[in-house]
Amino acid sequence: MAETAKQFLPLDGQVAVVTGASRGIGAAVARRLATMGAKIVATARNPESLSQLAQSIRENGGQCEAVPCDVTNLAQVEAVGRAVEKKYGRLDILVNNAGIGNFQGKLHELPPDDWDRVLNTNLRGPYYFIRAFAPLMIRGKSGHIINISSLAGKNPVPNGAAYAASKWGLNGLSASVAEELRGQSIRVSVICPGSTATEFGDHSAKNESKMLTAEDIAQVVAMIVTQAPQSFVSEISIRPTQKP
Ligand SMILES: NC(=O)c1ccc[n+]([C@@H]2O[C@H](COP(=O)([O-])OP(=O)(O)OC[C@H]3O[C@@H](n4cnc5c(N)ncnc54)[C@H](OP(=O)(O)O)[C@@H]3O)[C@@H](O)[C@H]2O)c1
Repeated sequence: MAETAKQFLPLDGQVAVVTGASRGIGAAVARRLATMGAKIVATARNPESLSQLAQSIRENGGQCEAVPCDVTNLAQVEAVGRAVEKKYGRLDILVNNAGIGNFQGKLHELPPDDWDRVLNTNLRGPYYFIRAFAPLMIRGKSGHIINISSLAGKNPVPNGAAYAASKWGLNGLSASVAEELRGQSIRVSVICPGSTATEFGDHSAKNESKMLTAEDIAQVVAMIVTQAPQSFVSEISIRPTQKP
């Protein structure tokens, strides 16, 4: 009698939370981790886009649930933490991807509300999610926290100072938390992508065919979460091969 070969899925049994999963890089990461066998908890603010993502992942044989959450809202982030703990009792992978840009002018002309929006989403959001989920990972004695930063977190960005500050800050946060948690076998990594063809920012002056794709960033996430236990890739910068 012919036996059905069971496909090897490297993340079988693991649970992954992806923020900003309603489109772009986050959606690509959610899809990729689902094909590797992880149960995906996809979060973002837009419930319709999230539901569509979750449905398309399930139609392709993966597992995904949509959990709307604004990363700047502590109560909502804590509710996601409680829901994941109750349902799964573990978290293996947290991808802090939700982010917004602001490239509209000089810092001294930037309205304080816009500064708050950028910093609260790009820097406070990852802090809230780490605060909500690190204790669960510590109890499980393992985990990956992957923060999606930017090359803007390593370079000056004229007319995008708040965005640059949020990403330079995220790089510092990531390296510091990595040292806090690596003793407990939790690896905190940061990915710094260059221009990636999504709805983010204004890419009209660029040649989109030369830009990175969201799937390129998802590929890096896949590499990080499949490292051997003794290996810790802490930071990856990724650029398009040709300048777009
Ligand atoms: N594209 C690039 O060129 C590029 C380059 C380097 C780094 N990055 C970084 O990559 C990450 C993803 O960017 P992307 O290109 O995929 O952008 P995108 O297509 O605009 O997607 C951004 C995602 O973040 C979510 N989001 C925004 N504010 C949120 C909030 N307050 N709470 C929860 N979710 C929120 C959005 O969902 P909702 O609107 O549904 O909430 C959406 O799913 C960002 O951190 C960005 O800084 C992008």
